[in-house]
Amino acid sequence: MSKRSHFCAEVSAAQIGQTVRLAGWCNRRRDLGGVIFIDLRDRSGITQVVFNPGVDAFATAEQVRSEYVLAVEGIVRRRPEGTENPNLVTGELEVHAQRAEILNPSKNPPFYIADGGEDVDELVRLRYRYLDLRRPEMQQSLILRHRIVKHVRDFFDAHGFLEIETPMLTKSTPEGARDYLVPSRVNPGKFYALPQSPQLFKQLLMVAGMERYVQIVRCFRDEDLRADRQPEFTQIDVEMAFIDRDDVLDLMEEMVAGLFERVVGVKVRRPFPRLSYGEAMDRFGSDKPDLRFGLELIDVSAAVVDCGFQVFAGAVAQGGVVKGIRVPGGAGASRKEIDELAALATGFGAKGLAWLAAGSEDDRSSFGKFLSAAERERLKQAAGIQPGDLLLLVADRAPVVADVLGRLRLELGRRLNLINQSEYNLLWVVDFPLLEWSQEEGRFVAVHHPFTSPHPDDVGLLDTAPGQARANAYDLVLNGVELGGGSIRIHRRPLQEKVFEVLGFTPEEARAKFGFLLEAFEYGTPPHGGIAFGLDRLVMLLAGRNSIRDVIAFPKTARAVDLMTDAPSEVSPQQLQELSIAVRRHAP
Ligand code: AMO
Ligand code: AMP
Repeated sequence: MSKRSHFCAEVSAAQIGQTVRLAGWCNRRRDLGGVIFIDLRDRSGITQVVFNPGVDAFATAEQVRSEYVLAVEGIVRRRPEGTENPNLVTGELEVHAQRAEILNPSKNPPFYIADGGEDVDELVRLRYRYLDLRRPEMQQSLILRHRIVKHVRDFFDAHGFLEIETPMLTKSTPEGARDYLVPSRVNPGKFYALPQSPQLFKQLLMVAGMERYVQIVRCFRDEDLRADRQPEFTQIDVEMAFIDRDDVLDLMEEMVAGLFERVVGVKVRRPFPRLSYGEAMDRFGSDKPDLRFGLELIDVSAAVVDCGFQVFAGAVAQGGVVKGIRVPGGAGASRKEIDELAALATGFGAKGLAWLAAGSEDDRSSFGKFLSAAERERLKQAAGIQPGDLLLLVADRAPVVADVLGRLRLELGRRLNLINQSEYNLLWVVDFPLLEWSQEEGRFVAVHHPFTSPHPDDVGLLDTAPGQARANAYDLVLNGVELGGGSIRIHRRPLQEKVFEVLGFTPEEARAKFGFLLEAFEYGTPPHGGIAFGLDRLVMLLAGRNSIRDVIAFPKTARAVDLMTDAPSEVSPQQLQELSIAVRRHAP
């Protein structure tokens, strides 16, 4: 039989009475005692094919089972009244088969190929990913991903960016995760690192005078995996010379807004709101706040500093804070519900969760006996509590309080159904701290990466109070997910050396690790800066999925395993020998 004339979903009323040739998979076969119906599926969708007894094709149809590959030739007809299927594009039509050919049979698949695969164990889906990817919603996700990438490439091309590839076999670039290492056979005992990002290369491309760089690029990070983290993931990586922060933010907004409008048909308002890191932490307890709902954190420290409840007064006396969330109308919560929230809070690292449910006459609370009536009124006033409200409070060091309440806030937003799922809430978080103190390493580490420029007003702080210096860095946040991050870079050698020094590198260490960058900075480096977006996260949010695994064709599990190919796997002793590697297993 000759090739297909149409894709399944292309069959339309215009072809009624005409002969079409289709090819695809048997989605479902129904034998209605004498007449066989096959839902034929290809990437475009499904068309119902009818096999009447008496036609040649009938005998073929009798043998067909789920996921057999078929070619069919037949006549397009309108379905008899009452048998239309409104769920299909082709639901008013059917193809009456005259000829059919089985191109390949299929074993019975381990799961039925249809949307709503949530009830199928994800491990089974990943093991048979090629079947999982036949499900229409997975195909839609990959189609959307393609369209997003196409938009991005077209946008940057139109704005004078060059897509330039950077090495995969390279030297470690510090983005804060562990490196994936690749042994070099020809240099025994030496290793390449797979790039955590092309950070240094894109900066060197600016030194090289490329002006505007973009790359859709794979990055590799050995870190703890979650729903929005994979060991290899894709960035839309951007760098520009002769720009300042607002140039980058403006252009990126244009790119993102255009993407929303053209690819998902949603108009987003520009400019995107900007929130400083400090304000984001104060008000939402997170550097990637979800602004689709309220429940802002309230600082009541001043109202409880000298109250009779030691947990509150003591925390403030020790330099900590007492903050809370007011849940409007939440006072009706049962004791069990409140205990659940308290368990969540302690799970997030709080020592406890104090609460007050305000009644019209009397309040219930976990700390009632410790506060005088006047102290309680002061607290309620500070928190803006009305009768019927619930107040949840945490006392601790400021970072602990922010983290616990930030996470509790998200959980409350979810539980109380406060999140409008069709909203896309975009904002920039700016003015991050440049450095944070690492208890573990006993030194400052870079919050973004060591090449980030300090805020122009804060360069002097590097000598006096480095921990207080702000970075000229920015993150783009969408619905509480960090979509991208970048910064204006350091482009002068002395400042870069200074930052390395504050990070605790000796000049020798700095030279050994980044000597090539320091050297390049001596040959006329333009001011430059850039950003990288997580493509997988962007597609995930636009596809309305909860995991980036759903928008990556062949992802890995939370244990960084590819269940289909069974990677990583052992290698032969010869291979190890060639690489001058001996494997010794430590107890886990
Ligand atoms: P950063 O480390 O913030 O910046 O990464 C940029 C964006 O990449 C995404 N991302 C990830 N997505 C999936 N899985 C992961 N494991 C993962 N890690 C990061 C996030 C993040 O916002 N070189 C700098 C950028 C720059 O300064 O220009 C960088 O890589 O969406
Ligand atoms: P207790 O004095 O231990 O009975 O605690 C009284 C209330 O304070 C309980 O609801 C505790 O969960 C709560 N609590 C204890 N420590 C903290 C804290 N650091 N922050 C907020 N609430 C706390």
